[in-house]
Amino acid sequence: MSSAYLTLTVVELTQETPDAVTIHFERPDRQAVACQPGQFLTLILPCGPGGKKERRAYSLSSTPAEAPRLAVTVKRVAGGLVSNYLLDTVRVGQQLEVMAPLGNFTLVPQPKSARSIVLVGAGSGITPLMSMLKAVLREEPQSHVLLVYGNRNEEAVIFANQLRQLEQQYASRFQVEYVYSQPKNPTSGHRHTGRLNRTMLLRILEQRHQFPAAQAEYFLCGPDGLMVEAQAALELLGVPASRIRRESFVAAADASETAAAQPSGHGDVSTAPDDKPGSYTVTINYEGSEYQFPVAPSQTILEAALDQDIDLPYSCQAGLCTACRGKCLSGKVHLDEREGLSDAEIKQGYVLTCVGHPLTSDVVIEID
Ligand SMILES: Cc1cc2nc3c(=O)[nH]c(=O)nc-3n(C[C@H](O)[C@H](O)[C@H](O)COP(=O)(O)OP(=O)(O)OC[C@H]3O[C@@H](n4cnc5c(N)ncnc54)[C@H](O)[C@@H]3O)c2cc1C
Ligand code: FES
Repeated sequence: MSSAYLTLTVVELTQETPDAVTIHFERPDRQAVACQPGQFLTLILPCGPGGKKERRAYSLSSTPAEAPRLAVTVKRVAGGLVSNYLLDTVRVGQQLEVMAPLGNFTLVPQPKSARSIVLVGAGSGITPLMSMLKAVLREEPQSHVLLVYGNRNEEAVIFANQLRQLEQQYASRFQVEYVYSQPKNPTSGHRHTGRLNRTMLLRILEQRHQFPAAQAEYFLCGPDGLMVEAQAALELLGVPASRIRRESFVAAADASETAAAQPSGHGDVSTAPDDKPGSYTVTINYEGSEYQFPVAPSQTILEAALDQDIDLPYSCQAGLCTACRGKCLSGKVHLDEREGLSDAEIKQGYVLTCVGHPLTSDVVIEID
């Protein structure tokens, strides 16, 4: 098994809400697993048709300081294959196959920094934000954190107890603004009732003078609608794009948003909707080996590699998580979805093999 894969033992389960469970893991040898706040684990579970292994990404809700423990928090998705299988079958003592932590949606604490960090999340999108806020509160004593956290009602709040304790422990540096779209108890003094949209977010941020909008750093994670609204609010506040980081758990409905980039010194990446993938041989360099295989127009580069039993890294298979990221060294690749990549990465020739198709016969991709 390559070093990208690990076997972890489930050591504890915490029921966070009726629909969400935190699964705490350790390596059998109790060694720490290298990770950064905001990264995710890929769980590999034999729950597909005929016992086929399925992979899904789950953000770490733990921080590196909790080593050797790691934790992910899984929320049940109606009709979802893996989330239901996991929540219905996971047991303490069970061993699970995972891919080691990955992901670029990270907030690495800088102990000497004195910064304002605003985290905006909803539903299961709280998980990477939880890891980030715990790490910053513990390791950046001069930084302030504001969490704006949307949920349907009080019962759906994941980590309610932990957040309450952290608000008490770090009262001068950490505040949570809860937003409930359909509160169970409208008279219980919640500050915000309604949808977490741009108006709501502007109202919350404008009241928070210790978080001057343009100087704060923003981390967004939640459903597509929330991301669009938050992005719009931050644009209205004049927040530069370089201060906004985001991660999506689900692909947006319309992925064909960006025009082709024309980089130099490496291959080209296009997201133009009218590009027509052809049938071409692609070369991949990964872990010291070179693989060449044909890719049909109906296949992604990752699907074609897996058909040939080439064990490339992947997780979400939806262009979101970047587990399959590689750099296009020559040729031209079309991406169906580019949510996981920044404009700068696309300009540098980075591609996602799970949503990538060759457009030329000379595509060479290097995967770290
Ligand atoms: C980087 C990354 C980190 C993630 N972290 C977490 C996490 O910390 N906790 C967590 O619970 N999930 C997380 N997810 C989502 C997770 O990977 C799965 O997509 C989710 O558990 C659904 O898988 P499933 O097999 O149950 O549903 P599937 O059978 O894959 O999908 C069933 C249907 O549900 C829709 N769907 C999938 N995910 C969601 C969702 N989150 N909300 C609403 N509809 C959805 C699908 O579009 C599909 O229509 C993360 C995803 C990514 C890409
Ligand atoms: S596997 Fe997640 S982006 Fe490709």
